[in-house]
Amino acid sequence: RVFFPQRHFLTLKDFCENEVKDMLWVASDLKQRFKEKHEHYCPLTGKSAGLIFEKRSTRTRVSTETAFALLGGHSCFLSPSDIHLGVNESLRDTAKVLSGFLDILLARVYRHKDLEVLALEGSVPVVNGLSEVYHPLQALADFLTLQEHFKSLKGLTLAWVGDGNNIIHSLMMAAPKLGVNVRCATPKVGRSKNVHICISSRERSSQHGTSLYCTTDPYDACKDADVLVTDTWVSMGQEEEKKERLRAFEGYQITKKMAAVASPDWSFLHCLPRKPEEVDDDVFYSKQSLVWQEAENRKWTVMAVMLCLLRDHQPLLDRPAF
Ligand code: CP
Ligand code: NVA
Repeated sequence: RVFFPQRHFLTLKDFCENEVKDMLWVASDLKQRFKEKHEHYCPLTGKSAGLIFEKRSTRTRVSTETAFALLGGHSCFLSPSDIHLGVNESLRDTAKVLSGFLDILLARVYRHKDLEVLALEGSVPVVNGLSEVYHPLQALADFLTLQEHFKSLKGLTLAWVGDGNNIIHSLMMAAPKLGVNVRCATPKVGRSKNVHICISSRERSSQHGTSLYCTTDPYDACKDADVLVTDTWVSMGQEEEKKERLRAFEGYQITKKMAAVASPDWSFLHCLPRKPEEVDDDVFYSKQSLVWQEAENRKWTVMAVMLCLLRDHQPLLDRPAF
């Protein structure tokens, strides 16, 4: 049985190898039960989720609302223009009040610290729906997609080309636990990854026998990689830096020419929303691109996370080998 009673899901750093694998297992199980078998399964009947979104969202919001509803629960979308959060009421007080109404809280925030305040001051599990540091739900969906595509994750090499942002941080936190090697190309100054996260990922890599290789050369990063991954060069909250960012990432666009140095059966991931700067149409709309499957998997992974924080779940599927 898989159950993480009342834990917070702020970063995959807090979950060990078996726990990350269990979440992917539950996600596959739920996908099969709902999508293929059309089962009626409502373990969260009577449960309520609060969804705080300080930033825009298509995938995270809709996947969470629909996933929670399928499990029998009810969710409340809470945007900063609707609730008192941070304007008429402190985050601390909001956390305490919401804990009295809700069973679980998902939040997308500008400051990762705010998630920690919600977790510390409230009394219900808090799920990170994206912060400037991490996007763990996205990393889970990415690994589920790769597991489905390659049938096993162990030994795969993932190349990241672009900004050292929340997405690569979360991929780096989980990759060693899943046996995945990471090759990262980011421009040196100001666009690189968080040093502490790199150190932590490097430690995990040596524990798990995987590698983490960092470079500034996109072609070097993509060499023999099984999967090429990128994201926008201008994350939410960085709009004012757009001009200088576009300059800093010159030469980082993923193209078929770049993919030619990857493994012959390479595939492509992007968390979306996508801008043409970071990946051209030839790659983005190619048959190697798994982006629509990846987006759909956001639903099955958030469903697995929310379920396992609130209730125990016994998958019917055999546990994949990963
Ligand atoms: N990938 C992702 O988190 O998308 P949204 O911003 O649409 O939620
Ligand atoms: N890095 C992007 C991800 C969007 C899903 C951002 O933070 O805006």
